[in-house]
Amino acid sequence: MPRHLLSLWDFTGKELTAIINDGLKLKKESAAGIRHTDLAGRTIGMIFEKPSTRTRVSFEAAMYGLSGQVVYLSGRDTQLSRNEPLKDMARVMSRYVDGIVVRTFGQEIVDELARYADVPVINALTDRHHPCQILSDIMTVIETRGDIADRHIAWIGDGNNMANSWIEAAVRLDFRLTLACPEGYEPAATIMKRAKAAAGDRINLIRDPKEAVAEAEVINVDVWASMGQESEAEKRLKIFAPYQLNAELLAAAGNDPVVLHCLPAHRGEEISEEVLEGDRCAAWDQAENKLHIHKAILRKFIA
Ligand code: CP
Ligand code: NVA
Repeated sequence: MPRHLLSLWDFTGKELTAIINDGLKLKKESAAGIRHTDLAGRTIGMIFEKPSTRTRVSFEAAMYGLSGQVVYLSGRDTQLSRNEPLKDMARVMSRYVDGIVVRTFGQEIVDELARYADVPVINALTDRHHPCQILSDIMTVIETRGDIADRHIAWIGDGNNMANSWIEAAVRLDFRLTLACPEGYEPAATIMKRAKAAAGDRINLIRDPKEAVAEAEVINVDVWASMGQESEAEKRLKIFAPYQLNAELLAAAGNDPVVLHCLPAHRGEEISEEVLEGDRCAAWDQAENKLHIHKAILRKFIA
C-alpha cells in the first residue's frame, strides 16, 4: 500500500518536520548550485480540475529539478470529464506513472483515487484541504521566525481549505492558532472539534480580527471566495469587509508579525496593496518555498 498525502492529519509532527527540514535543506543546496537526480526515470501524473499557477509550475519544476518527468492533465483532458469512474482512472494511471498529484473539488475525490491507486496520491488542493501549501507556509515561518513550536499564528477571514489545513498543522506541530472568521464562515466543524480535543486552548476560533492579531507573530490571509465559490463573491465582499488585512489591522498587532498570503491575492479585498507590498509581507518567499517543499514531498513519496 503506498503512502498518500491527502491531509496533514495523517502524519506525525516528526514526519511533517522532516519534510519541512528537507525543503529548507534543498533551498540552501539549490542556492549553492547543488543539483539532485533522485527521481531520474520516474514520472508523475498531474490531474488539475481547478486553475493553478504556483502549485502546477512548482510541482512540475520540482519534478524536472529532480530529473523526473511530468504528464499534466487538465480536467477536460481526461475521461473523468465524461464520467469514467475514479477507481478506473486510479488503477489505469497507476500502470503508467509513479505518483499522482491532484487538484480538484471534493476531498472524497482524492480519497477515492487513493483508495484504488497503487502509487502515491498527493493532494494539491481540494475544497477541504491544501496540505502542501501549509508545509511551504510553515517553512516560511521557520525562515522568518526561527521555529514553529509555540509560535502564535493568526488566521483572518474565511474558514476555508487553507484554514482547515492550518488547524491540522497546529495540532501536529504544537503552535498556537487563533482564527478570526465571520459567523457562518467557520472552518469545518468536524476538523475543529477533533483539533480542539487534541490541542485544547492552543487552537481558538473567535470573531474579532483585532483580537486575533494582537499577539500574533504570523498573520495569514487568503481570498474571501475560493475556487468554486465565484457566484458568492459579491455577497462575501460585504460580509468579509471587516476582515481586510490593512495598515489599521496590522497596527493592532503587537509582535511585529510576518504576513503570509498563499496567493493569488485580491488587493483591496482580503489584503490592502500597502500590506501586500510592505516589508512585513513574506508572500514572495512563501511562493518560492513551494518549489523546495514540493521537491521534498516528491522525494519522500515518489522516490
Ligand atoms: N497558492 C496556490 O496554491 O496557488 P495556485 O492556485 O496558483 O496554485
Ligand atoms: N482558498 C483558495 C486557495 C487558493 C490557493 C482557493 O481554494 O481558491
